[in-house]
Amino acid sequence: MPILITGGAGYIGSHTCVELLNAGYEIIVLDNFSNSKPEALNRVKEITGRDFQFYEGDLTDRNSVEDVFSRNRIEAVIHFGGLKAVGESVLFPLQYYQNNLVGTLVLCDVMNRYGVKNLVFSSSASVYGMTNEVPIREDSILSVTSPYGRTKLMIEEVLKDLHTADDTWSIALLRYFNPIGAHQSGLIGEDPTGVPNNLMPYITQVAAGKLEKLQVYGNDYPTADGTGVRDYIHVVDLAQGHIKALEKVMSSSGVEAFNLGTGTGYSVLEIISAFEKVSGKKIRYQITERRPGDIAISYADPTKAKTELHWSAQRGIEEMCRDSWRWQEKG
Ligand code: WQD
Repeated sequence: MPILITGGAGYIGSHTCVELLNAGYEIIVLDNFSNSKPEALNRVKEITGRDFQFYEGDLTDRNSVEDVFSRNRIEAVIHFGGLKAVGESVLFPLQYYQNNLVGTLVLCDVMNRYGVKNLVFSSSASVYGMTNEVPIREDSILSVTSPYGRTKLMIEEVLKDLHTADDTWSIALLRYFNPIGAHQSGLIGEDPTGVPNNLMPYITQVAAGKLEKLQVYGNDYPTADGTGVRDYIHVVDLAQGHIKALEKVMSSSGVEAFNLGTGTGYSVLEIISAFEKVSGKKIRYQITERRPGDIAISYADPTKAKTELHWSAQRGIEEMCRDSWRWQEKG
């Protein structure tokens, strides 16, 4: 029976579709293309040589979601569909609550009506906020600093309540650290609209000459070189973590959170150096003020995912940079 992927045309969604198809799963994609393009799905088919159904629709539109479940016997859902720009969420909180929260509530209600209770949820390390020691564990303090992060934390709480009310639900909450990189084919990758907010797509656009220089947001943090440290994880490693989480939810019940990170932190300047080494491009940058809301250091303790999902990240920082650059070059 097919696996439903909401937001399957997005950055992490499309990479997860590739890994699911390569692993022999039948998939169905539901996406509203608000932050992705149908072409990404054509590329998934090109990469894998496999076909699959997709439905264009919005999770907040109950009829769209009902349509998928009434026509197909869904075995499990991997739920990526949602808005994910931290800065945008501060400017437009109602849009984020409407889209992320209501969309998830509609999805879970329809799943419940059709007896589908296996769910992998795309959460985020942003649920850990600014107050934790590193490495961050799943039982670290949860505190959020943006409407985006708050929608992720609220959805985690909704899903825990759902399981408390009906313990036949089986749910994995996947807390991503910083996904970068792209499929080695260069056919799919991170495709932000407008000027990128995140570090790696900004760097690749500077390397491609699309942007003049990188602003490094602060070099006065308590880190080795003063710039922010993050746990960058290759998007294909992240996608493969979803396969392991899917296997887990389809073979057990309960609600569990898992950090999907490498357990290693790199600073902004270290990322710049690694990218320059693999691309041969010089990245012009200027040190500027800190970005409001940024934390100094964040990296995962990935032990729980290793022991319970039998998953760990395999790809190193140079491969992440190389694959990001290939995607940018192929344009
Ligand atoms: C990384 C580092 C910046 C851009 C965000 C979301 C998080 C998740 C991943 C969704 C920081 C520095 C960045 C730039 C810079 N998204 N930086 N110049 O903020 O760690 O996480 O994206 O789930 O929820 O919060 O990622 O890539 O924006 O920043 O110096 O132009 O790069 O200060 O130290 P972040 P990022």
